[in-house]
Amino acid sequence: MNLKSETFAKIDEVITHYPVKRSAVMPLLHLIQEDAGWISQEAIEWVAAKLELQPINVYEVVTFYPMFRQKPIGRRHIKVCRTLSCALTGGYKVCDRFEKEFNTHRGEISPDGEVTIEFVECLASCGTGPVVMVDDELHEKVDEAKAKQIADQIRTEAKQRKP
Ligand code: FES
Repeated sequence: MNLKSETFAKIDEVITHYPVKRSAVMPLLHLIQEDAGWISQEAIEWVAAKLELQPINVYEVVTFYPMFRQKPIGRRHIKVCRTLSCALTGGYKVCDRFEKEFNTHRGEISPDGEVTIEFVECLASCGTGPVVMVDDELHEKVDEAKAKQIADQIRTEAKQRKP
């Protein structure tokens, strides 16, 4: 499976925290999703083998919890907070703006493969909403104009990446 070496190291470490290996299934899935962006069939089988479970046991966990994504995401992940403070200060409009900028809908990969936009729950910066995370970077007080700037920045970085 294609993950960063740090993720493999964390996985091995996390397993040692549990007296019974199989109890590590949720943390392992979180670590894999953090790195790969989603949980593939390959990941399910890999986790099952690692924890001495049947793939169906892992699959049931992945399908039960909505936070686990079962399809890939774009190269950049835009998460817009929709919890109360951010919703009241315009989080929904900000999300709409990102959808327009990238010609896509929440949860889908944009046609250029560049982004996936999602609503998320509180990002723990409620006084500075609406709050948006792009990958690991937090953006505060994001209005529509700032959303456009962020989108422009993402497009610029995408161009720079291409030869
Ligand atoms: S409500 Fe958006 S960060 Fe808490």
